[in-house]
Amino acid sequence: MLSTILLPLVLCLTLLVLLLFFIRNLRTFKNPPLPPGPKGLPIIGNLHQFDSSILYLQLWQLSKKYGPIFSLQLGLRPAIVVSSPKLAKEVLKNHDLEFSGRPKLLGQQKLSYNGSEIAFSPYNEYWRQIRKICVVHIFSSKRVSSFSSIRNCEVKQMIKKISGHASSSGVTNLNELLMSLSSTIMCRVAFGRRYEDEGSEKSRFHVLLNELQAMMSTFFVSDYIPFTGWIDKLKGLHARLERNFKEFDKFYQEVIDEHMDPNRQQMEEHDMVDVLLQLKNDRSLSIDLTYDHIKGVLMDILVAGTDTTAATSVWAMTALIKNPRVMKKVQEEIRNVGGTKDFLDEDDVQKLSYFKAMIKETFRLYPPATLLVPRESNEECIIHGYRIPAKTILYVNAWVIHRDPESWKNPQEFIPERFLDSDVDFRGQDFQLIPFGTGRRSCPGLPMAVVILELVLANLLHSFDWELPQGMIKEDIDVQVLPGLTQHKKNDLCLCAKTRSHI
Ligand code: HEM
Repeated sequence: MLSTILLPLVLCLTLLVLLLFFIRNLRTFKNPPLPPGPKGLPIIGNLHQFDSSILYLQLWQLSKKYGPIFSLQLGLRPAIVVSSPKLAKEVLKNHDLEFSGRPKLLGQQKLSYNGSEIAFSPYNEYWRQIRKICVVHIFSSKRVSSFSSIRNCEVKQMIKKISGHASSSGVTNLNELLMSLSSTIMCRVAFGRRYEDEGSEKSRFHVLLNELQAMMSTFFVSDYIPFTGWIDKLKGLHARLERNFKEFDKFYQEVIDEHMDPNRQQMEEHDMVDVLLQLKNDRSLSIDLTYDHIKGVLMDILVAGTDTTAATSVWAMTALIKNPRVMKKVQEEIRNVGGTKDFLDEDDVQKLSYFKAMIKETFRLYPPATLLVPRESNEECIIHGYRIPAKTILYVNAWVIHRDPESWKNPQEFIPERFLDSDVDFRGQDFQLIPFGTGRRSCPGLPMAVVILELVLANLLHSFDWELPQGMIKEDIDVQVLPGLTQHKKNDLCLCAKTRSHI
């Protein structure tokens, strides 16, 4: 009797539990959860938890707790952080289209003429066309090689300057010197002239450029919390941004006017402004290039091209002075190829294999863009079983990915040999090494950056022996970084150059 009552009851209860379980999972299936992440405060979310100079390190700590994909709330803007090669492939290759936007940030929008260029434009037809035009006409290998005489001339000048320091037993400030070299090369290829003052490494242009870089990465609270623009205004940020924009706008306009002057002496090689002005008159292009578009592209070249190359060469010299074994080996290879020549050209550099491995290893351990350049999702998508809403900011922590223990043996060590018998490269096919990003929005300046870096470093290492200033040991050289879009070495790298006796 009892069993005739109990049995259906137990059955009913079991069915009910199963039904509830099914409904719960159905909801999860239809609406997967957001990635896990640290709890934030109302309105500001996690904003108060971060310090921009060590953001990549703070995000690394969080990835240890929450995994290779986790979420953050930056004010009212959702964000995710990806920290493994596998997840990088998922977002930058399998879901590249969904993540090909860029977040709109006040400073970047203003200075990029409202995204009238490549780097900060939203993903749209204009971006597709301007990127295509620039890849074909500005960043192509043919154009890059047309600037080789400029590169050779400027690197030779730099070597001469260092020889001066060496003969007076002075110390060479490599941060200043390499930043000045990089901006001079970029100004000559882009604008057709140099803007550094002769004799002084820190010119007015250099100061202006520093301010441009600073404004590009300045934190505007209204980017994350609407209606707080008054705080940015009170802090004077709007005025500072407007001033910097006006100064650069005036500068670009002068450069354009100079190039349009019919009496201007025509250089042998066209600089980038020449090319862009020619394209402006080309009616067959799919977009009508305006002066603002041209100014936006010039801004890209200054912002994306100058700092990154300079910072990487400083990091390479930092890594070498801290690793005398590698310094010795790389110099032996370079000097074997260079012999008694006083200058290595780009063909000589192509014969170097250990040197190239050393550059890859520098990109691995010291990516100048530790978090790449933030992307933004254009639409909702599912990544790794998690729901990522539209308009979510994506950070890819390249610094952590480049130290992934499953991809790299002794990941913290500076060992160029790891690349000698390996096909792994930084061109975007290998997701464990992505200093230039990958996919639709990857860096179009890669060929130009690599050719400059190789030429500069090969000649610094060929012409001089490098020593620490008296009283310093290699452990005194730190690897702290400055906040910004590009991670510069915080404390200037100052070394003593000794001229090789037979040169
Ligand atoms: C060592 C040197 C350089 C490094 C490490 C570097 C790195 C990067 C990275 C990480 C991105 C973002 C990629 C992504 O979102 O997937 C990027 C984008 C970009 N870079 Fe570079 N870059 C370097 C040099 C240059 C140079 C020399 C130029 C131009 C003269 C340049 C122009 C650009 C532009 C225009 C973009 C935006 C691309 C887009 O949004 O479609 N970069 N770069």
